[in-house]
Amino acid sequence: MKHDMLVDASVNARAWNRIAAQDAHAGQRCNVDRTTPPLPERIEWTCWPGRGPGGDFLCELSGLRVAELGCGTGEHTAYAAAHRARLAIGVDIADQRIAQAQARFGHLPALVWRTGDAARVLAELPVLDVCFSIYGALWYADPAQLLPVIHGRLRPGGLLAFSVNGPRPGELPGRRVDNLTLDDRTRLPVIHYSYDTGTWRRLLDRHGFTTPEVLPVQGPEGSPHRTLVIRARRT
Ligand SMILES: C[S@@+](CC[C@H](N)C(=O)[O-])C[C@H]1O[C@@H](n2cnc3c(N)ncnc32)[C@H](O)[C@@H]1O
Repeated sequence: MKHDMLVDASVNARAWNRIAAQDAHAGQRCNVDRTTPPLPERIEWTCWPGRGPGGDFLCELSGLRVAELGCGTGEHTAYAAAHRARLAIGVDIADQRIAQAQARFGHLPALVWRTGDAARVLAELPVLDVCFSIYGALWYADPAQLLPVIHGRLRPGGLLAFSVNGPRPGELPGRRVDNLTLDDRTRLPVIHYSYDTGTWRRLLDRHGFTTPEVLPVQGPEGSPHRTLVIRARRT
């Protein structure tokens, strides 16, 4: 792995493990039973429920081998399994997130969880029909490093679909350091990669993905955020 990728991976894993610990603590405090959550009825590609496309932005998943890169607590990997994927693999760099996903959805058939940086884990996976990611590895890892690995794992014609935030107004595109703020006001750095629509199209084209569709979804009124929901086919 390149130096930047190692830095990104360790900074981001630390942040998301801390978020996982905070969530686990909050769950205990509120006496919430998180072990049997309901399956999501639709894929939420944005953090604004109901905004943006739903599950139909992916193809019919029945019988396919699917991986989610940066699965967090696993809802959408579980969605893929519930929609009869032959194999649904949730990958996350934060081992505590994977532990939570396993505790919540480990009872479902066809689900597999893998801990580690998406680029490293992908190299060990079987050939896939679909790769997807929701504010996950395509946002938190350098796409110029990750896209070639995804290309190498998807079958020809396979689908890549993901959501990322675009640059905020006035923000320069590229590798950016941001902060997540915990409930106790601790600020944790995270590293993400922020590109506009045209750059995503060029990156996908350069790395062997064809017919990219990029849907910009604006946040609610007053939000500076704009999510890009993107899909393309491997050549
Ligand atoms: C904003 S959360 C999104 C989680 C989930 N997709 C969702 O929509 O709830 C980002 C997730 O990506 C994971 N992540 C960040 N960088 C990653 C990488 N290089 N490889 C795999 N997972 C990564 C983080 O650990 C975190 O769980």
